[in-house]
Amino acid sequence: LQVALIPYVCGAGAQTPGCEQGPLDFELRGLSDALQASGRDVWWSVDPEALLAGPYGSSAHRDLPPLGSDERNEIVVWHVRGLADRVEEDVRNGAFVVTLGGDHSMAAGSITGLARGLKKTMGADVRLGLLWLDAHADLNTLATTPSKALHGMPLSQVLGLDVAHDPFGLGHDAVVVAPSHLLYAGLRDLDPGEVDFIRDMNIHSFPMRDLVGKDLASTLIAAMAAMDVDVWAISLDLDGLDPAFAPAVGTPVAGGLNHSDVLQALRAIMDRFDVRLFEVAEHNPTLKGAGVNYQTALSTLQVVLDGATQRFKIRSDAA
Ligand code: ARG
Ligand code: MN
Ligand code: MN
Ligand code: MN
Repeated sequence: LQVALIPYVCGAGAQTPGCEQGPLDFELRGLSDALQASGRDVWWSVDPEALLAGPYGSSAHRDLPPLGSDERNEIVVWHVRGLADRVEEDVRNGAFVVTLGGDHSMAAGSITGLARGLKKTMGADVRLGLLWLDAHADLNTLATTPSKALHGMPLSQVLGLDVAHDPFGLGHDAVVVAPSHLLYAGLRDLDPGEVDFIRDMNIHSFPMRDLVGKDLASTLIAAMAAMDVDVWAISLDLDGLDPAFAPAVGTPVAGGLNHSDVLQALRAIMDRFDVRLFEVAEHNPTLKGAGVNYQTALSTLQVVLDGATQRFKIRSDAA
């Protein structure tokens, strides 16, 4: 199994900048070396350092225009489009994709790119499911956002909630994920508009308070098994975890998911479901505790990639 690491060197979608340095920070701490150990076939699909040196890289993030301005959003649009194209191509080539951020606006591009790639390789009616591990729902539209930060809005793009506007510059030809094929876990900080969307569209959700006393792995497995989905993507916003496991995030919220519960759940999920993309968002190495974020991200990716490799073997033996 070939594994493509795809960087998203953008922090302009967040209120606190710094996430743009996330992918390179992971690499400087040894990510690709550590993942290549044990014979895993892992490579960077794009060099994060080269992207940071480019027109929308470090220099564009030095003096960010105000949130909500066209100039600020243009930075996000450039990165989101690039990510979508890269993901699409790597998926078409059969790779397992790991997207590394970067603020969570990245999901608009990663999930769109995955859907495009899958349509070309598996047919137009492939049903894509999305497991979203986060303290936040990231479901705001331009009308409901309290902050104007695009990292609070990627799912309104993916679910097609605001087709009149196109803040991510991806177009709205198709709904990428049906609202019934989204599953949330870890939510504990929602805006009023998001609460309404989740209720009105009946989105499957395990907010933090509903997980108390439950086994995360079996809870998620049962919910996923009940959804008619062919292929899954998983997006982990590091702030979905308790801040003890990922302190270097711009919007930390107390009382989050336990990392070992998440690892156990991911092991079980990778065993049973056809997951093709895993995302780690919101790593901000300019904040305290970046080394803890790294250790958390690394051990998570090791579990995910070993699961993906195992499933890939089973799939190719069967073929
Ligand atoms: N709900 C808030 C907003 O829309 C915070 C979003 C935080 N999102 C994130 N990906 N950390 O502004
Ligand atoms: Mn979040
Ligand atoms: Mn369905
Ligand atoms: Mn998020």
